[in-house]
Amino acid sequence: MGRIPQHFIDELIARTDIVELIGARVPLKKSGREFKACCPFHSEKTPSFWVSPDKQFYHCFGCGQHGTALGFLMEHDHMAFPEAVEELATRLGLEVPHEGGAERSAPRGDELLYELMARVARFYAEQLARESRPRAYLAQRGMTDATIERFAIGYAPNSWNELLRRFGAGDSERKRLAEAGLIVERERTAAREGEQYYDRFRDRVMFPIRDARGRIIGFGGRIIDAGEPKYLNSPETVLFHKGHELYGLYETRQARRNLTRLIVVEGYMDTVSLHQAGVDYAVATLGTATTAEHFRRIFRLVPSVVFAFDGDRAGRAAAWRALQQALPEAREGREIRFLFLPQGQDPDTLILAEGREAFEQRLATAVPLSEYLVSELSAQSELGSADGRARFAEQARPLFARVAAGVYRELLLARLAQVVGLSPARLESLWSGRTPAPEPARPPGAKGRALPARAAHGAGRGSLVRQAIIRLLHYPVIALEVTAAERAGLDASEEPGVALLRELLDDLRKQPAQIPAQLIERWMGHKDRDTLQKLLAREEVITGAAAAGGELRAALVKLADRAAARRLEALEAKSRAGRLDSEEILEFQRLIEMMSHRDARSD
Ligand code: UTP
Ligand code: MN
Repeated sequence: MGRIPQHFIDELIARTDIVELIGARVPLKKSGREFKACCPFHSEKTPSFWVSPDKQFYHCFGCGQHGTALGFLMEHDHMAFPEAVEELATRLGLEVPHEGGAERSAPRGDELLYELMARVARFYAEQLARESRPRAYLAQRGMTDATIERFAIGYAPNSWNELLRRFGAGDSERKRLAEAGLIVERERTAAREGEQYYDRFRDRVMFPIRDARGRIIGFGGRIIDAGEPKYLNSPETVLFHKGHELYGLYETRQARRNLTRLIVVEGYMDTVSLHQAGVDYAVATLGTATTAEHFRRIFRLVPSVVFAFDGDRAGRAAAWRALQQALPEAREGREIRFLFLPQGQDPDTLILAEGREAFEQRLATAVPLSEYLVSELSAQSELGSADGRARFAEQARPLFARVAAGVYRELLLARLAQVVGLSPARLESLWSGRTPAPEPARPPGAKGRALPARAAHGAGRGSLVRQAIIRLLHYPVIALEVTAAERAGLDASEEPGVALLRELLDDLRKQPAQIPAQLIERWMGHKDRDTLQKLLAREEVITGAAAAGGELRAALVKLADRAAARRLEALEAKSRAGRLDSEEILEFQRLIEMMSHRDARSD
């Protein structure tokens, strides 16, 4: 199938009314120029989900979800990108054009793979029903038939080629089995006729892993009793990405209509046991660390999550890694807590031993992220001494830096400052390394006039780069007002984010856009797309396209000035050391000329 041309996506975005689209799925209330609702992506009682008809963009201030009409269909209706395009086109009565015009292939490759996985899972389930040894093993671990059915647990027979024989009759079938990670290719040299492949899973209890829509995308296979490896998992395939999936998420959503929290555990058995005992909001990462993608999935569903870790050293290490991943996700309205289990126990053994109520009492004692951070760092430093508190501050600094701006960040800062024994403002200014601006030097030839001190701001909230990007995002047409000279002035700038600003500006000058959502769709797959979406989602006071154009250009001029001032400083240092070559002397003169001219103008 050919690519869908960009101009068509632009057109869809321009002609679709996002308010109508979302309004058909979520009851929206008008509020000023925008519409609001309780967020469909996480549970809440007061509305923090906003839809903007001007930006053709939605945003939730609670869970951070945001996007265009296309993005909404993908997130909310779980459509793939081409499906979402198809849906919008159908609403508008348009035919989706495809570049290259290749005809649409019949059932897509992925669909055949999903279907194969489902058939194989059924086969494993049948095998479990026939074999008493794996059934006895599961019974001995306390698993009921209802649980086996709910999680579609099965058994892979003790054979090197049973699956191959049943599902791999032809070449294309075998290729598909291999693509699904169910059979393994032998080394070429060892391959004899008809023995090119063998079954990956043999004599194991099989846990199917489902995606959010319930489709089986992989398996975890546990050895019966003891042996190595204890669990064998599907490899990464086109369907299965370990770092994305949470085992038990589908089953959790089936069990509970109104989810308010999740508990994240480490193992398959932990998840299954918790569900069986009635703690049916447990999910597991699949033997990997918790990833940013996991967090995204979790907070799309619920505002509150507890991570349960074994009390041993490995569990503590895993918890610390999870904390580091969690920091960028922490914000007001979200609750991230950590539960440490007694040494030698995991959620499975605990819930079997003490039951649901006692386990949920433990859950209630889980420590909030901020407290875990403080207690872990305090354990490493002697807080009674100034040295120890300084060390604590040093260790907290890079962690704190990962937290996004907002109320949560302020509260965390206050808490850390309390431990260190400084005011929050003082601690933050020490951390940000802000020192008083030095007396500006007087360059030769500046006619006794000091150059203005031009403190370079970082890419903080109010940075020039950020202001410029925000204006471009809200009113993409203003890119066309920028002159070639103004654009060229950016080349010398090295401020954080300026590369993105340049790219955005160039892109919009080449390919003008009318509304923000068009721009966001074009930047699909770009590493900075989410940064742009976040900036767009922020409420900014911008006075309209006319003013925004002027403000953008003023920001560009200032950025060029700053770059010139930096260059001037460098040349000045070199001149003091007497090391300017003739070309640099000319540049130096020219810059001084230019700067004093600007100063005169702004005085
Ligand atoms: P554990 O070793 O803690 O096992 O691994 P468990 O979940 O308690 O299993 P049981 O109770 O002995 O049956 C935790 C998780 O790490 C992954 C699996 O996802 C497992 O559930 N793991 C572990 C593997 O992928 N491979 C292994 O060999 C071991
Ligand atoms: Mn276990």
